[in-house]
Amino acid sequence: MDPFDVLGVETDANESDVSRAYRERVKEAHPDQGGSREAFMRIQQAYAAIRNGNVEVAEDGSAESTAATEPTATHDQGPPPGTARMEYLDFEVLSDHGWEIDDDDLFEAASNADLEPGEYGRLLVDREETLLEAAERCGFAWPYACRGGACANCAVLLREGEVEMADSHVLPEGMVEEGIRLSCLCRPRSDELQVVYNVKHLPGLDELRLPSQRF
Ligand code: FES
Repeated sequence: MDPFDVLGVETDANESDVSRAYRERVKEAHPDQGGSREAFMRIQQAYAAIRNGNVEVAEDGSAESTAATEPTATHDQGPPPGTARMEYLDFEVLSDHGWEIDDDDLFEAASNADLEPGEYGRLLVDREETLLEAAERCGFAWPYACRGGACANCAVLLREGEVEMADSHVLPEGMVEEGIRLSCLCRPRSDELQVVYNVKHLPGLDELRLPSQRF
């Protein structure tokens, strides 16, 4: 394996180019994004080989990993650097299954319920993008109206994890304490998140909604 080839960088690439390429490739290939575990591990191995100096570059410019042992990365080792893994669930499906939003095993039940990808799943969120942007990047149409903190259309319930939410005065303090967040304003600050989205019809949020035309 030519680690530079796997990451798509020149053999004389500097550390920050290698690191940037690694982050891009590993995000594309991550199993949470639909990539294969093999491709994901190959990228991790390539990066580890370069970082640890376990690469031999031949005169013709080709390179080969000399790592004696390869990392045994697995899907459960956590999200790639600079990202968070968000497990999401559509509030709309809860009543169909007799689930309550505060059920302790809500996400476990959802993971065993054979739901559609738009209803339940996991996706990677870049630390610099909002939860709403990440969902849209993955092709999902999560609700929103203003995209600026002036309504509750994009509200989600954060069950696990930490996010940083830009200033908004629309949510009453009690709701923030209960875990309600605005997905258009939140960026991940922990590796793992659990989010119930589409909670705009919860009591107290319904009246904060705007007409849902997109502007
Ligand atoms: S869409 Fe209005 S606050 Fe997020």
